[in-house]
Amino acid sequence: MLNNTSVAQTDYSPLSPQHQGNPYEFYARARKEYPVFYSPMLKLWIVTRYAEINQVLKDTSRFSSANSNLVDIEISPEVEAVLKEGYADMPRPSLVDNDPPGHTRVRSLVSSVLTPARIAALEPHIYATANALVDDWINSGCVDIISNFASKLPLFIIGDFLGIPRQDIQTVKKWCDDWLIILSGGAPVEQHVGCARSFVSLQHYVADILKQRSINPQDDLLTGLLNASLEGEANLSTPEIISLVMQLLFAGHETTAHLIGNGVALLVQHPQQLEALRQNPSLAVNAVEEVMRFESPVPGLIRTTTEAVELGGVQLPKSARLQLLYASGNRDNTQFTEPERFDIHRIPNGKHLAFGGGIHYCVGAALARLEGRIALEVLTQRLPNLRMVPNQEIAYVPSIIIRGLLKFLVEWDLRA
Ligand code: HEM
Repeated sequence: MLNNTSVAQTDYSPLSPQHQGNPYEFYARARKEYPVFYSPMLKLWIVTRYAEINQVLKDTSRFSSANSNLVDIEISPEVEAVLKEGYADMPRPSLVDNDPPGHTRVRSLVSSVLTPARIAALEPHIYATANALVDDWINSGCVDIISNFASKLPLFIIGDFLGIPRQDIQTVKKWCDDWLIILSGGAPVEQHVGCARSFVSLQHYVADILKQRSINPQDDLLTGLLNASLEGEANLSTPEIISLVMQLLFAGHETTAHLIGNGVALLVQHPQQLEALRQNPSLAVNAVEEVMRFESPVPGLIRTTTEAVELGGVQLPKSARLQLLYASGNRDNTQFTEPERFDIHRIPNGKHLAFGGGIHYCVGAALARLEGRIALEVLTQRLPNLRMVPNQEIAYVPSIIIRGLLKFLVEWDLRA
């Protein structure tokens, strides 16, 4: 058995431009030589092989999702004073940061609202929104597809779906982002008070809408969450719904934005596959699965051990924090043939981990797939000879839990 120190990898530097340019070579080496290793820089144990990732996903009693924030933040008295203006004990654990039995209750209530039928009914609205976005810039011949399309479509759709007025959605998103920046350790301490104010504004904003919906119900998710009930279970409280709105907005926006962005980037770099998709739009279903596998928008998420445990031959102490590298598992040749080859003709084997697995399997997967399919379909159908603008600088989102491009310029032929 390896001991802890022999697997410490000081050269793992996931935010370096070199690693971000191609993390997959490192992942392949890690799967072979040090499948579970410790990153002193991140203070995380990194799990790289499909088998061990799957083992952790299935063992929720020894690998907890509670407190799955990236960092322990220190709440200063100034921040605490601001937070007191909001709901007590916020944020509440809801889904991604919860364990059974609390998770089971919230997940059942959310699933009773986020039904396959409700998601499928969004299809015409997603087509209309995607086409309207393309209308805005189609005559320009060149656009940053991330800020003008990939980022906007999922934000508008999840906002509309929740029932947040379109004119408020950017502000609401910013409030969520500010708080998440603190949780991911991205904000300097002097910005924490401002971020806390954003969080409190979000709480009051959502609580106000919920009050309105209790008097005047609408056909939206907020009304659905407010009224969701299961026999023998307490309904969702206002603070719980606020936490859920944050998770749905973050999980339903940033991730899908990068599915679309990564998809466009991969397709323009594989022009024959782009052309095959243009000629046969029904290939978009497979294309989405292959993009998810090949460039997973969420490369990995966090778990914590509840007791000392052995994983992949490595002894982990109690309270060890782990990152499950889904993006590495998705290139594991024990599960996928020729995993380093991008191929939208590949028949999906249903095994990729890009939506996680087990009880935390992405609750919005059907929506993400629908948006991804429609986005790739609309873009390839409407933009003739779609291609990458040459010689542009490529930079990735500086995050270990999101993989996507900050900006990606594409051009196409203008119709005469
Ligand atoms: C391409 C887009 C998406 C990707 C890559 C993605 C990825 C994931 C992953 C990997 C997990 C598992 C979390 C874990 O292992 O701890 C997850 C869970 C989750 N996702 Fe998504 N997601 C996407 C879209 C969405 C959408 C559109 C929504 C909202 C409608 C959403 C809401 C959630 C929520 C609430 C959870 C937590 C579920 C639970 O813990 O029970 N996601 N997602």
